[in-house]
Amino acid sequence: MSVIQEGLAWINGEFLPLEKARVSVEDRGFQFADGIYEVIRVYDGKPFTFREHLERLKTSAFLIGIDPRMIKADFQEIGMELISRSGIKDAELYIQITRGRAPRSHVFPKGIPPTVLISIRSVRPLPLDAEKNGISAITYPDIRWARCNIKSISLLANVLAKEEARNASAYEAIFIREGLITEGASSNIFLLHQGVLLTPPADWRILRGITRDILMALAIKEGIKVSQEELKKDLIYEAEEVFITSTAIEILPVVKVDGRVIGKGTPGSTFKLLHRRFKEYVEFRIGGKNKGDEGL
Ligand code: PDD
Repeated sequence: MSVIQEGLAWINGEFLPLEKARVSVEDRGFQFADGIYEVIRVYDGKPFTFREHLERLKTSAFLIGIDPRMIKADFQEIGMELISRSGIKDAELYIQITRGRAPRSHVFPKGIPPTVLISIRSVRPLPLDAEKNGISAITYPDIRWARCNIKSISLLANVLAKEEARNASAYEAIFIREGLITEGASSNIFLLHQGVLLTPPADWRILRGITRDILMALAIKEGIKVSQEELKKDLIYEAEEVFITSTAIEILPVVKVDGRVIGKGTPGSTFKLLHRRFKEYVEFRIGGKNKGDEGL
């Protein structure tokens, strides 16, 4: 029988309670935010879309010049071990890789092993009745860098945007770059406009969310027209429906942006349909013989 703990970590080869896990003050993650991460959802003790997250992690590592051969961790095995040791069934697995520990100097240190942290904790609760009644969002200038496709741990702009949202009693901040909608501070965005599901293209301006890709596939399967295109800010106020997606929140309807009501001000029928299909898809991936890593 495993003991239920607040959270559990695996760091550089060792399992520890989350609050006991430590890195050096000279870790480049601490000094420079020089690292990358992934958040993987665990449903009923089974990781969802683990394979896709590991693929993206590998791509992020490549894009910041961390040699994947230097990473000595079997993520699948450690992930499963964290699930069974912690006993947390509905969880977020968190993986963070930094360029490692070295005396502070901007250039890459040579021959240093990356720091690898894998942790597990219970899922963060959603705002009350968020799926039923929808959430509010604000728009916020996208002050991030020009490599938003990398899942970097450097999240200061996202943090500032989220705090601004909270100050406005909203849940999410939607970034606007040069008049165009990009994504949420920790989510991707979809607009239903004249019956077409619109989302910004997966270029350097956004993180290509795994939930986003699933949602597009599910929408296409339902015969909904999906288009990835540049979206002017004002389109958000004119949309029939708006929703945001991420591993942590799945799909949430946005019913107010900058204090302006979206559509009828309640979650729309397209959200409801896709939300249902998403739940079915989770069941499909984690249920039966599937171990959560079979694709669409
Ligand atoms: N964030 N865009 C940004 C900026 C994000 O931070 C996230 C997720 C997404 C959605 O990606 P996915 O569907 O693959 O989770 C899009 C995670 C959950 C986080 O930082 O906690």
